[in-house]
Amino acid sequence: MKRINSLLYLPLWFFKAKILGKQNPLQTVLFVNDQCNLRCRHCVIYSRKTPTVKSFEQVRKELEYSYKLGSRFVDFEGGEPTLWHDGEKNLNSLIRLAHNIGFYSTTVTTNAQRPFNDSIADSIWVSLDGIGRYHDDIRGDGAFDKLVKNINSCGHNALSVNMVINSRNYTSVEETIDFAAGNDNIKSISLNFHTPFKGSEELMLDWNLRCLVIDKIVMKKKSGYPVMNSVSGLERMKDMNFQKQCWVTNFIMVDGARYAQCQGKEEGVCNLCGFCMAGEMHAVMSLKPDTIFAGLNLRM
Ligand SMILES: C[S@@+](CC[C@H](N)C(=O)[O-])C[C@H]1O[C@@H](n2cnc3c(N)ncnc32)[C@H](O)[C@@H]1O
Repeated sequence: MKRINSLLYLPLWFFKAKILGKQNPLQTVLFVNDQCNLRCRHCVIYSRKTPTVKSFEQVRKELEYSYKLGSRFVDFEGGEPTLWHDGEKNLNSLIRLAHNIGFYSTTVTTNAQRPFNDSIADSIWVSLDGIGRYHDDIRGDGAFDKLVKNINSCGHNALSVNMVINSRNYTSVEETIDFAAGNDNIKSISLNFHTPFKGSEELMLDWNLRCLVIDKIVMKKKSGYPVMNSVSGLERMKDMNFQKQCWVTNFIMVDGARYAQCQGKEEGVCNLCGFCMAGEMHAVMSLKPDTIFAGLNLRM
């Protein structure tokens, strides 16, 4: 039933957005904590002295709020969301809650340093920033081996990996796509670029290199590798002067702040954005068939 509802909801949402100009979010990124078990180069969150962990009740209010706005897909983020708990309740309790409220699908983004074979999330995104030493250079020694072990033992049928390409790991992109293709536990790989939020600017990849890397990813995609990004969406990421559609996602931050779109806007970095969802959403609104297909594949 939920599947039928979502199949009806998506075209209706698109019609309202494209024809009536209604900017209601379709998906929510909800940060549940800022605790983490890694110290990644790109991350400025872990250095906070007192970690924040939201209560179950706070997350309930935030989910209800997002649902009322029109959102039907939620991604639980952190910190490291798999560390979240409130008394007896754990991340699976939040996933059940989201489903009870009416969300069609839930996603968890994890660094995969802990086993997650009990996860009931509809899909899991594992952050993989290159192979072996490339990943460890960004996320710490031993992180890659733990990630591989936990991916191989998780048994989840909708697990994908997400690589954020930066000035230190861009030479590992092709082997990371090969790795995703060669591992039966991984459904697809999504590629993004480092967005230069304050304090992490040096990780941003030079723009000309970014365009060359995009060409390589497109070649891999066209040769049949399981790249989640669409070709149209990737091509958009070469030139960021297009009209952004980032209102498609609302963000609820760890301090409870509610943003109608990505924080990048507040920081004034939209023209240097690396989140390929920006390109994907622009291509969807321009009715690019390959992107619409990739989006449906992701959400259905
Ligand atoms: C903030 S992490 C939190 C979830 C979890 N601890 C993890 O490592 O996946 C969520 C995702 O955002 C990505 N990310 C963090 N900073 C970024 C940036 N400046 N630009 C692009 N992606 C970024 C990470 O690589 C990761 O895939």
